[in-house]
Amino acid sequence: MCGIVGYVGHREATPILLEGLRRLEYRGYDSAGLAVAHRGRLRVTKAAVRVAGLRDLVGTPTQATSGIAHTRWATHGEPTDANAHPHTDTSGRIAVVHNGIIENSERLRAELTANGVTFTSDTDTEALAHLIAAALAAGAASLEDAVRTTLRRVEGAYGLVVLDARKPGELVAARNGSPLVIGVGEDETLVASDVAALVRHTQRVVYLEDGELATLTATDFRTSTRDARTIDKEPTTVELTAEDYDLGNWSDFMHKEIHEQPAAVSRALLGRLDDQFATARLGGIEVTARDVHAIRRVKFLGCGSAYYAAQLGAGLMEELARLPADAEPASEFRYRNPVIDSDTLFIAVSQSGETLDTLAAVRELERKGGRLLGVVNVVGSALARACGNGIFLHAGPEVAVASTKAVTNMAVSFAMLGLLFGRVRDLSFADGQRIVEGLRALPGQIAEVLDAEPEIAEVAKRYADAQHMFFTGRVRGWPVAREGAQKLKEISYLHAEAYQASELKHGPLALIDKSMPTVAVIPGDELVAKNIATVEEIKARGGPVIAVTSADLPDGLADAVIRVPRTELELNPILLTLPLQLFAYHVALTLGRDIDKPRNLAKSVTVE
Ligand code: F6R
Repeated sequence: MCGIVGYVGHREATPILLEGLRRLEYRGYDSAGLAVAHRGRLRVTKAAVRVAGLRDLVGTPTQATSGIAHTRWATHGEPTDANAHPHTDTSGRIAVVHNGIIENSERLRAELTANGVTFTSDTDTEALAHLIAAALAAGAASLEDAVRTTLRRVEGAYGLVVLDARKPGELVAARNGSPLVIGVGEDETLVASDVAALVRHTQRVVYLEDGELATLTATDFRTSTRDARTIDKEPTTVELTAEDYDLGNWSDFMHKEIHEQPAAVSRALLGRLDDQFATARLGGIEVTARDVHAIRRVKFLGCGSAYYAAQLGAGLMEELARLPADAEPASEFRYRNPVIDSDTLFIAVSQSGETLDTLAAVRELERKGGRLLGVVNVVGSALARACGNGIFLHAGPEVAVASTKAVTNMAVSFAMLGLLFGRVRDLSFADGQRIVEGLRALPGQIAEVLDAEPEIAEVAKRYADAQHMFFTGRVRGWPVAREGAQKLKEISYLHAEAYQASELKHGPLALIDKSMPTVAVIPGDELVAKNIATVEEIKARGGPVIAVTSADLPDGLADAVIRVPRTELELNPILLTLPLQLFAYHVALTLGRDIDKPRNLAKSVTVE
């Protein structure tokens, strides 16, 4: 979702800002813009264009050494040139870039209009520029004070950065609900909504928390609270480098990330499998064996694919640890006044660690004293910091909007957590060993599935002209079917619906005919015969079937069969998810879709 970059230093700002925006393109956006301060004036360039288009519009850069830039994902107002950020006050002194939503913007706009201000955009952000300029005109001691005064009047979520043409040597940033991270370089300071825009220049970063402001100069930064209390923050070092965000020889990030999965899973497992006790070692979680015995229920919370992975995790937790477990979309949980038992363990799951709904669910849990653990990919993200203890996914940066390697590493992490809890409870040493070996074999087996890409691509091409598709699965196959349908719809725009195979006869079977292919997920488990019966029912009604399976199916049962290697039954769903990523990818490729940036979607959803 919207991206922010700010720079103050000794180098020309424009190329640094443009490069930063390019690094944030993956978050999804529909317009872009930047402002630099030059000779006491702002120079603003913004339009409903891609970052490459903005680069053309900027033309010859100025010598300016400070500026702010933005990629916008429309919320208030259409994606037009006028609504693109930065926004300025009437005199052109103050420029603001903003992520989030100002909830009382209508009231603020009405008040400013009554005072004679003419708005040039439909955005909620523009009011901020006018208010900050008014606070300065009214005698605020500094830009930081003017921003602080303004924020006292603002309700809603924001990550924002402000530039004053008359004081180009400093930027003011503020955070409430939308991520901002400061990059501390040599005689230059940056700020961005994501470390991806910083790591080319520095690995030393400072995360802003909600309710905090920062004033940045080339050689220093100062952080404080909304009520002007100074907070001392030390930079931490991120391990990521610019190369981690490079495409290399791949044509798009989704393909690259699908193929990174053997390595990503190896990283997730590294040092975490314990042969001596046939269990997992998860250093980041603060749960003792006694705590495990006190847990009566496990509830997983996440959004989108993280929720489907969580559902898979709930299955693993029940199978391995025999603890009742379920998953719920965090976006629903936060709004239904959930009952928080002291003997339930809540597990918040997120790749980005910035998904607003998941964060809000965590805040609700904190407020009610729920027992909490985070499963997160991005180190230093808001969720990782809010949960305090948990499991890092170690999937590496995920740039494509459609999540692949992070989802797989979520499932692998849940298997390790289930193993750990199971071995404290009823799981035998022999079963523990079986799972440890199964996990250890996964990277190689994942590579085997990925080697079958040409055959999977051929099947995908054959069915790419379908208008609708069903994905079916039961028990272990059900979350896999849901995630498969999700991948297909988000990147190919085909209508894909997941259904429990067991529920088909209770309604959706009426939709089956030769124009409705079904992707049937069939783990090699005790339900194979049931799944075969479902496929036969679909075939009897003329529906084409693509079976994705680790079972031996009767010859001729399905129109196409995609096989995955046999693994431990409990781990089957992890491997079965992979061909569905490649299937969705190749359908989307055949249809000529913009795979890394599907329409209407953003990588991290930091608004409701
Ligand atoms: C789907 C996808 C989304 C995310 C969801 C949660 O491919 O990427 O459904 O899974 O927006 O995002 P995180 O995991 O960052 O909380």
